[in-house]
Amino acid sequence: MAEYVQIFDTTLRDGEQSPGATMNVEEKIQVALQLERLGVDSIEAGFPVASEGDFQAVRRIAERIQDSKVVALARCEKMDIERAWDAVRVARRPGLHVFLSTSDIHLRYQLRKDRQEVLDWAAQMVRFARQLCDDVEFSPMDASRTEPTFLFQVLEAAIEAGANIVNIPDTVGYATPDEFGELIRQIRNSVANIDKATLSVHCHNDLGLAVANSLAAVLAGARQVECTINGIGERAGNAALEEVVMALKTRADRFGVETRIRTELLYPTSRMVSRITGIPVQPNKAIVGANAFSHESGIHQDGILKDKRTYEIMTPESVGWGQTSLVLGKHSGRHALKDRLEKLGYELTPEDLDRVFQRFKALADKNKDVYDEDLEAIVEDEVLRVPEKYKLVYLHVTSGSVTVPTASVKLEIDGVEHAGAGFGIGPVDATFQTIARITGTKAKLKRFAINAITGGSDAQGEVTVRLEANGHEVVGQGTHPDVLVASAKAYVNALNRLEYRKRYPLQIKEEM
Ligand code: KIV
Ligand code: ZN
Repeated sequence: MAEYVQIFDTTLRDGEQSPGATMNVEEKIQVALQLERLGVDSIEAGFPVASEGDFQAVRRIAERIQDSKVVALARCEKMDIERAWDAVRVARRPGLHVFLSTSDIHLRYQLRKDRQEVLDWAAQMVRFARQLCDDVEFSPMDASRTEPTFLFQVLEAAIEAGANIVNIPDTVGYATPDEFGELIRQIRNSVANIDKATLSVHCHNDLGLAVANSLAAVLAGARQVECTINGIGERAGNAALEEVVMALKTRADRFGVETRIRTELLYPTSRMVSRITGIPVQPNKAIVGANAFSHESGIHQDGILKDKRTYEIMTPESVGWGQTSLVLGKHSGRHALKDRLEKLGYELTPEDLDRVFQRFKALADKNKDVYDEDLEAIVEDEVLRVPEKYKLVYLHVTSGSVTVPTASVKLEIDGVEHAGAGFGIGPVDATFQTIARITGTKAKLKRFAINAITGGSDAQGEVTVRLEANGHEVVGQGTHPDVLVASAKAYVNALNRLEYRKRYPLQIKEEM
């Protein structure tokens, strides 16, 4: 019988450390519920000591999640561990994850401690965590660059102190697959009490090897893999969950292990995370990229028509592609809409469903077909919004080859209407400059991207903007069949997020 590899998802913690990927509490709950549906064994929900927002997000996720374990991260500090436990203790299956650097370079320059001090400190903090929680994971940070004999000693001490999971992070993405697999083998052979703990791995993608390293570790005996949806995470990201899972499934002949992931939810989950974080998925990304299952060459198309297995090693349906095309038209009812939204991972309150239903009907009247991507856009627009200090009331733009682009904008600011007009280099520039003047804001535009989210010229335009002000960087999104209105909505959404960030700053994230 095949053994299980546990999937530990850290999209909401390490994934959220991607530049500009910060999510608000409601968005994190949506993602957590979808991860649970997907079947992940553990959800690392955040780093509660980092900010009040992180604490609240972990607490609320812990209240909602039933099947997956909910894990909170803490440094090896009593204050961190107590805060993490406070956030996660309400979970049906709570877990604490404590970490401490063990490589000489981190000891010398970051911790300013010697090896013996680190060894004692790790054991002491794991013991403390175990007094609070029965499920404690310990990570020796920068493990792959730690002197192996010292690493074995720390792991043995952590297990002795009560850790039931020991996790081996390749924190800076330095390892190669053969080397990392060998390290896992050595740990299994050299740590006397390793059979009392689950051996986990956590790989970063700085050299593009995070998935390969994770798989090498599984072959060497690791039985938990830490990963994120779409591979988002610190710097170049983490091992991509969908790639790890599909490699284990498609090449079960090589790996001989199973996961509990419902693979047909991989694509909807990838879409959700991409939309919420504003981080697009590259078209050639394995499993979930737009081109992952499209065949361009004539020879390949010919083969596919004769027998799909000629050029397809897994079916698009097995990862949730192909179920996302047209399903709903204007005659579809509220119930059909609710069903479809649940499949996509959105459980809405009756009030939210009402608002989404009105928008859906309006769109279905205008366009013949409404696609899953349209529904996601409507939910994003109507439900997953931060509190709105600014609201777009109307936008009128004139532009063309012989006019100076001009925008007239009316906004509601704290419930009071304000209007203004202005010029710009193009219609988008005119719109953004006018909004900035009316709101008296001076945010720097760092990125602007338009995407037609469904095919055809009647498609909804999806605009993503990234703004920076006072050291905060946020992503705003807007959707509308008119791309200029979508742009204005995205800009206003980003301003609202900056306001929210001012109130709930991410305090010590930078230190990690
Ligand atoms: O990459 C890393 O080392 C981490 C630890 C907190 C596990 O994210
Ligand atoms: Zn990490």
